[in-house]
Amino acid sequence: MSFAPPNRLGLAAYGLLALCRSGFEKETAAELDEFAAELGLIGFVRARPDTAFVTFETQEPVPFVDLAERCDWRSLIFARQLLPWFARIDDLPERDRATPIVTAARAASQRFAELMLETPDTDEAKQQSGFCRRFAAPLQRELEKTGVFREHAKGLPELHVLFPDATTAWLCAALPGKAALWPMGIPRLRMLREAASRSTLKLAEAIFTLLTEEERNASLRPGLRAVDLGAAPGGWTWQLAHRGLRVTAIDNGPMAPSVMATEMVEHVRADGFTWRPPRPVEWMVCDMVEQPTRIAALVAEWIATGRCRRTIFNLKLPMKKRLEAVEQCRALITKRLAQQGPFELRFKHLYHDREEITGYLTLKSAAA
Ligand SMILES: C[S@@+](CC[C@H](N)C(=O)[O-])C[C@H]1O[C@@H](n2cnc3c(N)ncnc32)[C@H](O)[C@@H]1O
Repeated sequence: MSFAPPNRLGLAAYGLLALCRSGFEKETAAELDEFAAELGLIGFVRARPDTAFVTFETQEPVPFVDLAERCDWRSLIFARQLLPWFARIDDLPERDRATPIVTAARAASQRFAELMLETPDTDEAKQQSGFCRRFAAPLQRELEKTGVFREHAKGLPELHVLFPDATTAWLCAALPGKAALWPMGIPRLRMLREAASRSTLKLAEAIFTLLTEEERNASLRPGLRAVDLGAAPGGWTWQLAHRGLRVTAIDNGPMAPSVMATEMVEHVRADGFTWRPPRPVEWMVCDMVEQPTRIAALVAEWIATGRCRRTIFNLKLPMKKRLEAVEQCRALITKRLAQQGPFELRFKHLYHDREEITGYLTLKSAAA
């Protein structure tokens, strides 16, 4: 079955599609349902366990322009990707998958400027990733031939084609800058050996995902100071030190020699919950494995008392009631900062996060 959008609406969307980590469909579905309601959409969510994607289907087609600006993948904590979708093809023939896709794209009365082929992050769907790599160029050529696609044309939406299996394709569209920074929301970050631990990639991803370019430029400059609570062996510390920040690393455990060799790091063996800096710092980052509410209270206290201007922190979530745990932490932070004026609190379930999410908190008066 495929949906043919009526031309009078221009590009008509039939709902939203979100990719997530396998096992987090329930949380993504709850968020997607709420987000769709905020957008004024009427319809229903479909989520199957361990498929790594969730869809919202509207009862009526909706003009893409009404959704596109507000449909930003950062809006949902558990979504790695978030896109309006406009066609679904259920019976792709193995010998010619291009023709039905080109036909559906043409029927959408919309030109596109970028093409991205994606799969959900499951073993089954990833079997399609080799096919996606081989198929991208021929599909683009077919789309160009019919006038549906003009590479790099300014202002046109991107076309995302998602293959959950060999015979199904979801056609989605996104305005430039609204879809995830990386295909499938999976950053291909390389770990340098001197970075000490793989969790260094988590902070690298958080910096790109949770901060704007302006915020990165303002806050990750040589000469600024940072504190890393629960620092050992030093992957997060290294991310800051190699950007030129002076880091106080708090942990009773040993720091990797390669991190100490940057000569930007002071290692203090102390309890991260009670240690405080002698003077305010730009950053406090925290990767201690603890109850999420304890971490939330700690970061809120550092911000409220001006000990740091910004913080990035990990919240380890319980297996059950993950969203409730997040909301509990949000409420706790909101309460603690009630007297401090408006604040920016962003959460994301990063690709490098497993049973945790990563947060960014700053007072708006202190931000870039
Ligand atoms: C997940 S590891 C941190 C990994 C680190 N972010 C990295 O990139 O290498 C958690 C660390 O928190 C430390 N930790 C746990 N509770 C702590 C506390 N109360 N005070 C200081 N460090 C603590 C542990 O010793 C451990 O080294």
